[in-house]
Amino acid sequence: LKVLITGAGGYIGSVLQAVLTQRPEVAGQRVDAIALVDRVLPGAAGPRRVAIEGDLTDSAVLERIADFRPDTTFHLAGVPGGASEADYLVGRRTNLDATLALFEQLAQQRRDADRAPVVVYASTIAVYGTRLPPVVKQETPLQPPLTYGAHKRVCEILLADFSRRNELDGRTLRLPGIVARRSAGPGLTSAFMSDVLHALADGVPFEAPVSEEATAWWMSARRCAENLVHAAGMDLTGADPGRAWPMPVLRLSMRDIVNTCAEAFGPDRKSLVAYRPIESVEAVFGRYPVLDDAPSRALGLLDDGTPLALVLRALGREA
Ligand SMILES: NC(=O)c1ccc[n+]([C@@H]2O[C@H](COP(=O)([O-])OP(=O)(O)OC[C@H]3O[C@@H](n4cnc5c(N)ncnc54)[C@H](O)[C@@H]3O)[C@@H](O)[C@H]2O)c1
Repeated sequence: LKVLITGAGGYIGSVLQAVLTQRPEVAGQRVDAIALVDRVLPGAAGPRRVAIEGDLTDSAVLERIADFRPDTTFHLAGVPGGASEADYLVGRRTNLDATLALFEQLAQQRRDADRAPVVVYASTIAVYGTRLPPVVKQETPLQPPLTYGAHKRVCEILLADFSRRNELDGRTLRLPGIVARRSAGPGLTSAFMSDVLHALADGVPFEAPVSEEATAWWMSARRCAENLVHAAGMDLTGADPGRAWPMPVLRLSMRDIVNTCAEAFGPDRKSLVAYRPIESVEAVFGRYPVLDDAPSRALGLLDDGTPLALVLRALGREA
C-alpha cells in the first residue's frame, strides 16, 4: 500500500509518521511506501520514504504526487485559523484551492485503478461554530464563524461529492484542539490547553486564561493520529453520505485536567495554577457542550480512554 501524508512536517503529521513507523499498516494492509509532502521536511529521507518538499499550491508538487500514485492520502496540510483570518488569500490558497486541486488530482488516478483512492481529511470542530445547543449531534447545523472553518466545511462537502461520484473514497474527521504541542506560541488562543500540561509536568507555575469550570473537548496527538489511521480502513457501508465525523472526545474541565496532573506528577501541582479568566477565551474554549459522538464510536474511532491516559499520552509518556 502506498500512503501520502500532506503537512507531514507539522505537529500531527510528525506523530502520524511515528505511528506508521511503529506499525506500518493501514486498512489491514502493509504500508510499502510513504510519500511526505511539506514545505520543509528535515530528515525525511529513509527507507520506504519519499520526500516531496514544496508547496501544495505548486503544480510541480501535484505532479510528483500523481507520479507516486497513493492508495491512501492523509491530507493534513493546512493554514491555521488565526493566520487564515489575518490573511484571507494565504488561507484560501492552501485550505481551499490547493485542497480542491489535490482532490481533483487524486480523483484523476481513479480512471485506471480498481478502486477509488482513499482520502482521510483533517477538518475541525471549528465548523460547528460557537452558538451551540447543549448536545452537539450529527444533525446539528454547521455554522463556521471564521474563514478557516468555512473553507474546511467547503472541502468536507467537496470530498463527500467526490465520494458520491466514486472518484475518491473520502473520510473527514473533525479534530478538536489536539494536545500537547510544545510552545504553540502566543498567536494560538487554544495554546493554553497544551501549555498547562507541559507546565504542570515540568513543575512550573501556570496562569490559566479560563476558569476552573471551563470545559473543553480534549484529545492527545497520539490518539488523533491513531484515529486518522483507523479512519482509512473504516467500513462505510450504509454510513452517512456526508462522510464527516467528529473525533470522539473526553469532555473535561480545567479542574479535571489539573487534578489529573496532580495525580500524575504530584499533589503540589495544584498550587502552581492561577486562574485569570479572559471572557473572550472562556467563551470559545470554556463552554463546550456535550458531543454526541456515538456515530463516530460506532465506526471504531476512540477517545483517550481516561483523563490520566490523555495527559500521559499527550506528553508522550504513555505507560
Ligand atoms: N492541531 C489541532 O489542534 C487541529 C485542530 C483541528 C484541525 N486541525 C487540522 O489538522 C491539520 C494538521 O494540523 P497540525 O496541528 O499538524 O498543523 P501544523 O500547522 O503543525 O502542520 C501543518 C503543516 O502543513 C504544512 N503546510 C501548510 N500549507 C502548506 C502548503 N501549501 N504546502 C505544503 N505544506 C503546507 C505546514 O508547513 C505544516 O508543517 C491541519 O489541516 C489543521 O487545520 C488541527
